[in-house]
Amino acid sequence: MKWDSSFAIGIDAIDTQHKQIFELLLAIENSVAKRDPWHILHFFLTELSDYMKFHLAVEEALLEIVRYPDRAGHCDLHARLIEQVAKLENQLKNKPSGENLVGFFEDWFLRHVLASDRDYAAYVSKQFPALSGASSP
Ligand SMILES: [Fe+2]
Ligand SMILES: [Fe+2]
Repeated sequence: MKWDSSFAIGIDAIDTQHKQIFELLLAIENSVAKRDPWHILHFFLTELSDYMKFHLAVEEALLEIVRYPDRAGHCDLHARLIEQVAKLENQLKNKPSGENLVGFFEDWFLRHVLASDRDYAAYVSKQFPALSGASSP
């Protein structure tokens, strides 16, 4: 699977971060498939965990700045994602398998990026058109 521009939510800085997380998940999948030694897999998992926390904090700050009405609900979803990353790390430590990744990928990407993040992006594009749709070619 490859990142596709149709995955973008229309806010450049956020899309760049989503793409980075997407690629880290692919790197982890690849590392699991190659049966890399634990320290390599662990390196990617640490990157994922740190980068995910950074991304969620950036989004939460943005939602605060734009006064997104459902920011509390969105932040709750983020708290759950952080828990899931920790769970994923543990699962992969005990049993490096693609199955563990699929569930997380679906929750983060299909349910969150392509759904919940799009909800706030629609609000941003309506209230702050200058912040969205400014994608460089
Ligand atoms: Fe996001
Ligand atoms: Fe989000």
